[in-house]
Amino acid sequence: MTAKILDGKAAAERLHARVEEQVQQRLKRGLRQPGLAVILVGNDPASSVYVGKKRKLCEQVGFISRGYDLPTNTSQSALLALVDELNADPAIDGILVQLPLPDHMDANAVIERIDPTKDVDGFHPVNMGRLALRLPGLHPCTPHGVMTLLRDAGVPLEGKDAIVLGQSNIVGRPMALELLNARCTPTICHSRTADLAAKVARADVVVAAVGKPHFVQGDWIKPGAVVVDVGIHRTDSGKLTGDVEYASAAERAGWITPVPGGVGPMTVATLLENTLQAAEERDAAN
Ligand code: GUN
Repeated sequence: MTAKILDGKAAAERLHARVEEQVQQRLKRGLRQPGLAVILVGNDPASSVYVGKKRKLCEQVGFISRGYDLPTNTSQSALLALVDELNADPAIDGILVQLPLPDHMDANAVIERIDPTKDVDGFHPVNMGRLALRLPGLHPCTPHGVMTLLRDAGVPLEGKDAIVLGQSNIVGRPMALELLNARCTPTICHSRTADLAAKVARADVVVAAVGKPHFVQGDWIKPGAVVVDVGIHRTDSGKLTGDVEYASAAERAGWITPVPGGVGPMTVATLLENTLQAAEERDAAN
């Protein structure tokens, strides 16, 4: 078997077009442009690249994009004061604080300071709680983007056994909740999980978010399984690669996401979708 490709770049472009169209509709109805504030603390090179993409796409779909680049030695209280200011700003619908933050900062305290209605990352306990309770809300971008990609491709999920590799707050935990809400039977695996390869071999859906290049070996994959690779790493030769051994996994899988061009573009497209949703909900509430 050779897997079908889950083309995240193409699906993300369709989502950008839908968001752009809805922004145009808002403007015709006399409503504001949605506004997103993206805060970057320090100069982590990967974070700078991601933030640059987010800001560029915001402008492309017709949002107001506000960038805040703060030095590494910014105090926690100065960052919290900026969050307070943006919470109160009527032109801003979404606030994103790029993670990781420098070591002297408490990321949980910063996330909890964001108004949950402006938490377009979906990381606030209120939004994570709403996802767990199957209530509408702002859902974390990467897992929600994966679900959009799978739905867009018509991949059947109901009743499937799913394995999520990685238990992070940003990906693993909300991913398992999304899969549960889609009526899969999810299992979260992590660094203490026993018999990992055997568990992966039984899974109909595998989502890899371990942060280690080529961690998931192709011969672990059940023939016909859906393989979603959230990892992105630069090899010594400068190429981008994921958490999965792509070539050997693609020989066995039924569906697979490439790296790059799979999950990454869906994360950013979902951020746009969440910001539009936050703007629409703010207007409906006022
Ligand atoms: N760092 C890695 N992924 C993300 C994300 O989706 N949002 C934020 N804010 N930071 C990240």
